[in-house]
Amino acid sequence: MRESDAKQASDLLAWYAAMGVDEAIGDVPVDRFAASEAASLVQDDPKKTPRADPPQAPTARSAARSTTPPATPPRAKRPPAPPPQANAPAPALDGIMNLSELQAAAAAFDGCALKRTAKTTCFSRGSEQAKVMLIGEAPGRDEDLQGKPFVGRAGKLLDKMLAAIGLDETSVYITNTIYWRPPGNRTPTPQEIQSCAPFLARQIELLAPEVIVLLGGAAAKSILETTEGIMRLRGKWKLYHAKDRDIPTLATLHPAYLLRSPEAKRFAWRDLLMLKERLTTLQ
Ligand code: URA
Repeated sequence: MRESDAKQASDLLAWYAAMGVDEAIGDVPVDRFAASEAASLVQDDPKKTPRADPPQAPTARSAARSTTPPATPPRAKRPPAPPPQANAPAPALDGIMNLSELQAAAAAFDGCALKRTAKTTCFSRGSEQAKVMLIGEAPGRDEDLQGKPFVGRAGKLLDKMLAAIGLDETSVYITNTIYWRPPGNRTPTPQEIQSCAPFLARQIELLAPEVIVLLGGAAAKSILETTEGIMRLRGKWKLYHAKDRDIPTLATLHPAYLLRSPEAKRFAWRDLLMLKERLTTLQ
């Protein structure tokens, strides 16, 4: 290795460390053989250029990978999102009068194709008496295995964040915009989120929380019905219009994003302090 290459490699490692990348294992395996095959195809035929991925808005999952430096091999293939489908008719949920019945209705619901590939229906964890409801994006692998939201690495960080302002599973109720894990942890499509939306709306009505906290862009956009990005939405109290009342709602950064972008934790901390402050007015 030339001295300049070694210097470049060591600078890159220092940059990773500064960005908080402290492990070398990705969320998904990278097929290096496919990557080098693609590169050699391009060398064989210079007219063939590798297709760039279209730019995407950051989500809990994609933004969380944003510390990847420019020269990495192409991302591993993820199962593609299915083409948009007509939504299954929204089920009538008004007659459901408690959260256990709603959970059973969600588990029996066949209007979201993700259910076919998921192992469990991941409905909620926490207290049904909670004043604080947290809504994340979608179950990941650990959540799918255990059938509960936020029990993996992001969940552990979320628990620490809550503990920092005196909250825990006995004082919060946690769910997601969808109840089934998207294959390969891809971002759920708007259609998938839409298919579960009537359940989430009824879940909010039945829980009747005093405040809602939206974890990440997917939850924030869906619940606040906006296309604004999470960086603009976070740290501001907005109102969610439930059927019978308006509920103060605060968007913040997703813990999975914070795991990979620890420098953004200061924003999440400010949001947590806003939540804490609000909760003192409720006591
Ligand atoms: N990320 C989410 O958005 N929800 C989970 O339950 C776990 C990780």
